[in-house]
Amino acid sequence: MRAGHEVVVSNSRGPETLAGLVKELGPRSRAGTPVEAAKAGDMVVVTIPLRNYRQVPVEPLAGKVVMDTNNYYPSRDGQIAELDDESTTTSELLQAHLPQSKVVKAFNHIHAAELTRHGQPPGTGNRRALAIAGDDPEAKAQVARLIDQFGFDTVDAGPLREGWRIQRDTPGYGPRRNAEELRRDLAAARRYGDR
Ligand SMILES: NC(=O)c1ccc[n+]([C@@H]2O[C@H](COP(=O)([O-])OP(=O)(O)OC[C@H]3O[C@@H](n4cnc5c(N)ncnc54)[C@H](OP(=O)(O)O)[C@@H]3O)[C@@H](O)[C@H]2O)c1
Repeated sequence: MRAGHEVVVSNSRGPETLAGLVKELGPRSRAGTPVEAAKAGDMVVVTIPLRNYRQVPVEPLAGKVVMDTNNYYPSRDGQIAELDDESTTTSELLQAHLPQSKVVKAFNHIHAAELTRHGQPPGTGNRRALAIAGDDPEAKAQVARLIDQFGFDTVDAGPLREGWRIQRDTPGYGPRRNAEELRRDLAAARRYGDR
């Protein structure tokens, strides 16, 4: 919203439970059901516990850029066989659920509170960088522009299947990194099975 966007937030319990948040966020925000939020957004963020990804509405997100922040924590999400055997990645699961959407993995490796604290203007030396992954180049470019508005450089980790390079337990997951450092971290990442 600070970057000039209007935002519709939703959760699982219903818009009325978000009244306090909307009041705190101010007039550029409103609450809706997940379907209403999905319909309203030009760009939509899915940021829910991964175990619930199949509950994300499919039809209203067709054709849209969907940013996926999700990470896999078996203690929270239960065991997901295709992730345990590393035959897919978290954002590929969401893409399979939303076949007509353009899923871009984004914001999964920065603590939520740092999103509004660590941003700096374009061109700032040692600016923090965030990784993205996705299969649609134009969707990735749109997300990169948004990330720049939020105050961060972007490093392209490649297609969705490369998203594991920034998953939990990889070097780039969590710490503040500039673009050069993040590129190094992505290259140094190892799959669980190769450790
Ligand atoms: N927190 C961070 O700093 C951070 C950073 C990067 C990535 N992530 C990842 O982002 C995801 C979300 O994390 P979080 O910390 O925001 O989790 P969280 O605090 O548990 O919040 C989850 C939100 O998702 C909503 N939700 C759950 N199921 C839903 C559904 N089926 N439809 C609509 N809304 C639903 C919940 O609404 P109700 O409360 O109404 O159920 C709640 O508002 C996770 O995969 C996490 O690993 C988190």
